[in-house]
Amino acid sequence: MKKTNIKNLLLWYRVNKRDLPWRHTKDSYKIWISETMLQQTRVETVIPYYQRFLACLPTISSLAKINEDDLLKLWEGLGYYSRARNLQKAAKILDRDGLDFLPPIKEELQALPGVGPYTVGAILSIAYDIPEPAIDGNVMRVLSRIYEEKEDILKPKIREKYRLILQDLMKNEKASDFTQSFIELGALVCTRNPSCDVCPLKSCCKAYQHQTVSLYPMKKVKKEKPVFQKTAFIFTYKNLYMIHKREDEGLLANLYEIPNVDSFFTVDEAQEYLQTKHIIYESIQEIGEVKHIFSHQIWIIKVYFVSLQEKIRHELFVSSKEIQEKYSLPTVFQKVWNLQKEKNQKLF
Ligand code: ADE
Repeated sequence: MKKTNIKNLLLWYRVNKRDLPWRHTKDSYKIWISETMLQQTRVETVIPYYQRFLACLPTISSLAKINEDDLLKLWEGLGYYSRARNLQKAAKILDRDGLDFLPPIKEELQALPGVGPYTVGAILSIAYDIPEPAIDGNVMRVLSRIYEEKEDILKPKIREKYRLILQDLMKNEKASDFTQSFIELGALVCTRNPSCDVCPLKSCCKAYQHQTVSLYPMKKVKKEKPVFQKTAFIFTYKNLYMIHKREDEGLLANLYEIPNVDSFFTVDEAQEYLQTKHIIYESIQEIGEVKHIFSHQIWIIKVYFVSLQEKIRHELFVSSKEIQEKYSLPTVFQKVWNLQKEKNQKLF
């Protein structure tokens, strides 16, 4: 890739870029939030979350001060909740130091919780126009095709090789446009099913020239995700529903869940289980199954709806409205909850 290719790419970007909310700001806090949300999550999904998050938490100090349950509620549905917790940890550090912006200094950014090399590059280049590359999966896909990269693009060594290449190419260019032009090309043109005809980099793309685009990025053989079977119980008592706060550690830590156990129960087994727990109920009904794919595992959950004769002691029972508005149920349990709603709509 040469400087002239970069000129073409920047020209293309200025004409074709999407009008996205975080492209109307240079505020390092807002860019940090958008770039954190955009890791692992699609642009269309992020937009409403980004707007709501910043409406509630317009400054670093407001993020530092919000209570964790409310923060997780704002994040509910985005997944990878450690991103939200790390944002708050970092905000607390910045707030303690009296900063209401992200420092424009690589070493200081790197030291913040949850801020990896991609986010450092994104904040420095997009908010401050400092020539530090931001390389995510989209950008690596573009580069792997341009250079016909044979190695696994997830290897840090390979990322570093391209970081140096990009850093050299971005000198004397507007860093914010440079970074986002690669991201945008990866999102709109150099996709899994690319539109090479309209690509501003086709003249320097080795894979395009050799008609090998579909081979890149080279795939590692993926490990199969383990499947876990579970049974969830929607316990209801007088229009209230039981939810339970998960433990402090591991998957979905500190979020709320619909009570569940780690095996797949037949109705008989479910009844037996309720008896051993001394749970007194009026009726139990199987209402279906839910499947949820996490990044490293799959859950298949059989769901029972259980009308109780009395509340289960020491447990939290809340209304349907509170589940929607107050408590953060991760997507997997939203799916369980929605099954119940569908069933009730059919009944009444
Ligand atoms: N994905 C990651 N960063 C992005 C950005 N700034 N614009 C669009 N998509 C992105």
